[in-house]
Amino acid sequence: VWAKVPLGPRDAILGVTEAFKADKNPKKINLGVGAYRDDKGKPYVLPSVQKAEQQLAKAGHDKEYLPITGLPEFVNAAVKLAYGENSKPLQEGRIAATQTISGTGALRLGLAFLARFFPHKSIYLPDKTWANHAAIVKDCGLEVKHYKYYDPETVGVAFEGFKADVRAAPNGSAFLLHAAAFNPLGTDLTKEQWAELCEIFKEKQHFAFFDMAYQGFASGIFEDDAFPVRHFVEQGFPIALCQSFAKNMGLYGERVGAFSLVCADKDEKARVDSQLKILIRPMYSNPPVHGARLAAQILNSPELYKDWKVEVKGMADRIIAMREALYDLLQNKYKTPGDWSHVKKQIGMFSYTGLKPEQVDALATHASIYLTRDGRISMAGLNSSNIEYFAENVSKAVKG
Ligand code: LMR
Repeated sequence: VWAKVPLGPRDAILGVTEAFKADKNPKKINLGVGAYRDDKGKPYVLPSVQKAEQQLAKAGHDKEYLPITGLPEFVNAAVKLAYGENSKPLQEGRIAATQTISGTGALRLGLAFLARFFPHKSIYLPDKTWANHAAIVKDCGLEVKHYKYYDPETVGVAFEGFKADVRAAPNGSAFLLHAAAFNPLGTDLTKEQWAELCEIFKEKQHFAFFDMAYQGFASGIFEDDAFPVRHFVEQGFPIALCQSFAKNMGLYGERVGAFSLVCADKDEKARVDSQLKILIRPMYSNPPVHGARLAAQILNSPELYKDWKVEVKGMADRIIAMREALYDLLQNKYKTPGDWSHVKKQIGMFSYTGLKPEQVDALATHASIYLTRDGRISMAGLNSSNIEYFAENVSKAVKG
């Protein structure tokens, strides 16, 4: 029956891990997937997560089903973390929210909601974006449109082009916006630019659909990273928001996330909530319980919450140290052609190096260094033992 099923391509990001795993070179490095590693190159289970695990084990929970929209203690705390406890729609009880299967699940659910209820059957994505965004949009039955974001000259943001595309889009269009630590570019708008963008959104009555997978990773400060979300909400926008706790709590495989929509009033929220349930039930019935309990334990315990914030800052700071070291090696030690200052300026988990696909291929073939073909590297995969080897080989690949 499946004789005509064609062989599909490897996933742009997770396929890199597959290739890495198959490589026998002891010096191999995986900078493909955005997953934090410590300075020994090992996966990192946050101490706050370990403590939460112990507390949960002591409490002896059962394994019953969660409600369709997940664990309320988790969902409420996640929403508070994103919007801030003084947020008006939160206080007025008009944010419809649900637990999701991490950030991808939040996107999938949110975009399915748009496909069903949003007047336009399309959404604008930045011209460079997370490799999975377009696939999710298409699989939800929406059309992908693009707005200008990437400036190849500076390996930064093309803000003028971005604004022009926002102005040129039909009124009331949906735009997917990276809230913080833009993946893959590592370059966010400044607060002033966000405020300017928000004014154009007002004129055009556009809809802001935020993807916030890295709250805490950009600046190390949760409130600052949530600025665009909070600003749009303060300005009265009925935004959509996808959250993930994969990166900031290191809960990758636990699949902990949330999706929320700011509604006009409690009645609208009740209707939206009912439709989110109608979408979720045939998709996966209800979400997994363990990761949500862990996240809730941390978010709702003042002591663990305090520890967690310090640990997130620790991860952000190690990445910043790697950026400084990489810049120094590429620019000064190996005299790699070009200006590498963007490596230092970028923020969050990734650096968009500007390496060309052929150079990426050469790194894999000659040095067993794996990254996505768009030239993105997960900075978290670099450490004091492998950074020199990486820089030396990047320099060779650039020099050809
Ligand atoms: C990434 O961009 O590497 C992460 O978001 C992991 C993933 O699922 O792609």
